[in-house]
Amino acid sequence: MENPIGIFDSGIGGISILEKLKKLLPNENFIYLADNRNCPYGSKSKKEILSLSDKNCEKLIEFNCKIIIIACNTSTTNSIQKLREMISLPIVGIEPGLKPAINYTKTKNIGVLATEKTLGSKLFFETLNKNKIDDINIHEQIGYELVNMIEEGLNSKKNLYKILKSYLTPMINKNIDCLLLGCTHFNHIKDIIKEILPKNIKIVDTIGPVNKHVLNKLKFKNILNKSKNKRFIKVFYNGKELSSNYLDKEYELSYLEF
Ligand code: DGL
Repeated sequence: MENPIGIFDSGIGGISILEKLKKLLPNENFIYLADNRNCPYGSKSKKEILSLSDKNCEKLIEFNCKIIIIACNTSTTNSIQKLREMISLPIVGIEPGLKPAINYTKTKNIGVLATEKTLGSKLFFETLNKNKIDDINIHEQIGYELVNMIEEGLNSKKNLYKILKSYLTPMINKNIDCLLLGCTHFNHIKDIIKEILPKNIKIVDTIGPVNKHVLNKLKFKNILNKSKNKRFIKVFYNGKELSSNYLDKEYELSYLEF
């Protein structure tokens, strides 16, 4: 089936998923929506996040997408259940990998860096309660200004380093041995996070498992693209032009009202 795979995020964050997914699925066409006019989602109300997510899904449906990937933890944790009730297409959403982190930790201390609304969401809370063992401590940190800095193309690395250090140090001091990246934007600063973290702390992101899940869904539903036509990857944004720091040459980039 040649119909594209639809992906959305509040901006550039989900490009970190697309980057890997386009390699895993070299025959597939993609439509990526960066709703950067409304970025950041992380400080909006649950109602607003649901309405923005629904708007993005409607646009992807107009593009005849065969599956929707929510490349935004904030949107997944605040809207995926409702979206699945409203939309009949398969929907896959990224969310913080609490389960793998809980299985991994030896020090029984896990750090989570995410947006305010992801950490405050019912889904995050329920997933935590379902998997958590009593003696494991979760140390949460809201990424406050990080999303905006990443959207703007990381002009001041020095300032970013300083802010990140102030977010990560309290978690390091709590003896965490893994850090969950609970916001797709943060994948773009993984190298700087690695520089700050001691070597024994593992960074857990969920891009790999989400992409594998997408592949399995496409196989199971028998909707993989078997055509030999040259594939396309279209990236649309509705606000300021996206920073070229994160964009591959293969992407056809354009402005779109949505
Ligand atoms: N990239 C997003 C996430 O994974 C959203 C960041 C934001 O818009 O606040 O949570």
